[in-house]
Amino acid sequence: MIHKPTALSPRLREAYDPENFRRLGHQLVDQLADHLQNVQSEVERPVYHHADPEAETEYWRRALDRSGLDQLPDWYARVVQHSIHLHHPRYAGHQISSPSPLAALSGLLTDLLNNGMGVYEMGVAATAMERVVIETVARQFGMPATAGGYLTSGGTLANLTALLAARRHRAPRDVWREGSNEKLAVLVCEEAHYCIDRAVRIMGLGEAGVRKIPATKDFKMRTELLEEHWQQARAEGLYPIAVVGSACSTSTGAYDDLEAIADFCEAKQLWFHVDGAHGAAVAFSGRYCQLVKGIDRADSVTMDFHKMLLTPALATGLIFRELDASFATFSQRAQYLWSGATDREWFNLARRTFECTKSMMSVKVFTLLQAYGTDLFDDYVSRCYDLGQYFAQLISQSPDLELATWPDGNIVCFRRMVGDLDEEGLNQLNGDIRRSIVESGAFYLVQTELHGRCYLRVTLVNPLTSEEDLEELLNLVRRRV
Ligand SMILES: Cc1ncc(COP(=O)(O)O)c(C=O)c1O
Repeated sequence: MIHKPTALSPRLREAYDPENFRRLGHQLVDQLADHLQNVQSEVERPVYHHADPEAETEYWRRALDRSGLDQLPDWYARVVQHSIHLHHPRYAGHQISSPSPLAALSGLLTDLLNNGMGVYEMGVAATAMERVVIETVARQFGMPATAGGYLTSGGTLANLTALLAARRHRAPRDVWREGSNEKLAVLVCEEAHYCIDRAVRIMGLGEAGVRKIPATKDFKMRTELLEEHWQQARAEGLYPIAVVGSACSTSTGAYDDLEAIADFCEAKQLWFHVDGAHGAAVAFSGRYCQLVKGIDRADSVTMDFHKMLLTPALATGLIFRELDASFATFSQRAQYLWSGATDREWFNLARRTFECTKSMMSVKVFTLLQAYGTDLFDDYVSRCYDLGQYFAQLISQSPDLELATWPDGNIVCFRRMVGDLDEEGLNQLNGDIRRSIVESGAFYLVQTELHGRCYLRVTLVNPLTSEEDLEELLNLVRRRV
């Protein structure tokens, strides 16, 4: 007997109703525009809602009361109020863009359309846009016309995917088919983001497979030690497949010498991957692009649009100098997705990405390019890096403050100095300074440990941050003795 489907419930009908969407959507856009206006113009408003995790969970447990559509604007307001405000000029914390509201509007568009992207038919426009976006980036890096790539969900995943490509192309055996990963290694600066170490271990290379190259006092890879570490790995019976350069590192924003790494990789036939999650975006900056000199020689580059290119998270580019190199990573057949496909169809993206379903991230980037071209990226990166340089100058002129190192760009690490305090006392003081500033909601900044010392860490990702904001931050830092 055939069962008839249950009738469409009034609830389901309401959940898909275009008129509700229109009404609530207009209200929400108004609410968000007011929010932007408020946080941008009234810097005295808290940038951060400080709350104990247990208490916050209890708050939302109680908030879940099925109060219906009419309560949604109030509920939206509460979400805004309880969140950290990246558009606040006094947000200077972790590395994530204050996204352009225009790109966020495209997020509404893409969330509604919800094209799945794994195969071309499930993202016709977004797949084509993705290609245009990648071509634009590859051109900016100075890569050849044969370059290509795709967008993926975050720098962590992009770095892992790049290292899998490196293994596919540089390991002496076909690990993908044979399943044994034995004795491969990756060379990377000790200052690199932890996700490189994690990727290498996920690939089964173990602790010995991560060969950490010491850093200079400026936190950059000591590239003159590459040879020695390569020799050492070989002597231990390991087979290095790749070198990862940071552009830039996470803690201090230090750029490795990409030219020197490229030379070494060429000489040794190693894969050269650039982790440019944060800082490859300087390729768009007329003033700072020299920091990534040599990026055109990389085999692969990770670049987060959601870090330094005004795009809401997640949106990461993985760009290969040779498009062809991106096909071998996951060579696998999935008949229901690609039935009969034999050639390298660039447009069936899941053949090359980790994700099967992924979001239509290209549309958000394309929106910005459509409205302003790459000039907007130049304006944004140059302004944020200028702010970093200005802030470092202020600090360097203050005898009661110490820079960890002169910053290459918009990540600045510094600490408060008090004459009679030992290192332990200074660590305690600087930790307390950050805690009291952040909990007060006046600024949002983070802290990092460098050579056992606690430094305050600022990443200037909001172009609306002013010189006065930065001066005020230093006043607050000085207030505590
Ligand atoms: C240099 C670097 N690589 C990778 C990552 C990880 O990127 P994501 O947060 O997009 O996964 C970060 C994050 O801060 C980073 O700074």
